Amino acid sequence: MWENFIEEKVGEIRETVGDGKAIIALSGGVDSSTAAILAHRAIGGKLHAVFVNTGFMRKNEPEFVVKTFHDEFGLNLHYVDASDRFFAELKGVTEPEEKRRIIGRVFIEVFEEVAKDVDADFLIQGTIAPDWIESRGRIKSHHNVGGLPEKLNLGLIEPLRDLYKDEVRELARELGLPEKIYNRMPFPGPGLAIRVLGEVTPKRVAVVREANAIVEDEIERAGLEPWQAFAVLLGVRTVGVQGDIRVYKETIAVRVVESLDGMTANAMAVPFNVLQKIAFRITSEIPQVGRVLYDITNKPPATIEFE
Ligand code: XMP
Repeated sequence: MWENFIEEKVGEIRETVGDGKAIIALSGGVDSSTAAILAHRAIGGKLHAVFVNTGFMRKNEPEFVVKTFHDEFGLNLHYVDASDRFFAELKGVTEPEEKRRIIGRVFIEVFEEVAKDVDADFLIQGTIAPDWIESRGRIKSHHNVGGLPEKLNLGLIEPLRDLYKDEVRELARELGLPEKIYNRMPFPGPGLAIRVLGEVTPKRVAVVREANAIVEDEIERAGLEPWQAFAVLLGVRTVGVQGDIRVYKETIAVRVVESLDGMTANAMAVPFNVLQKIAFRITSEIPQVGRVLYDITNKPPATIEFE
């Protein structure tokens, strides 16, 4: 089945782009990665993939994206480190929707600059069916749907627009993408910035990045396959004891949910020993953190992300 799909989409992209150039925002997530590889098969070096390092990526993510897409797949990859710019724009901002809006706007600005440099004619997007079906009634403003095409005034190509997530994963596998990509948990566009409650600073993001890596690592080691597993920096300090000394440190919340499509979700009954291991590692490996809580709330009423 995928052979035909690939052949058809590759043909369509090739024909549409012709002698022009196309650009894609590559995040390393399964959707944009799959769209990028499909487009690369179709038009090779005429595809310019742009990876914007917002400063809110997961641990080792920028390195992984460069290694995979530039070194291994040979994509024409533009790596843009815009982290200083994102942190500067978010200085002093604490309101969740304002954070999302700013991140979305800066992302578009950065991407627009590259698109102009490249002199692109087409925009390739990894939009999948739920993105455009759900984007109308959204509770939160998602920065990865809608914003880019309107502003850029480029021809839009969406090779995955009729697919659902599980189909994209199959296709990604078929295209030879690494398992780390096709089996990966969803990760929000605004990244770790919405997992640091309150102000987003490089130091606070660094704390949640480490905690998040520990959560992902222990969930994987335990052989669990939740929809998502992550850490959130609450911005609440609590009292603890270290040796004979009173300490006053940050609190991390751990969220692990099961879901089919992200629209509703249940808190996962993660075995207690796994949770304890996570708490132990976070408090011993991250000096700023003194307490770890497990979020037992379903969606609804709580959303999956905290902001
Ligand atoms: P919520 O928090 O609304 O999240 O329950 C539902 C699913 O969407 C993901 N999410 C996002 N994905 N851009 C994305 O691509 C975003 O801005 C965004 N915000 C939330 C979230 O991780 C969950 O899987």
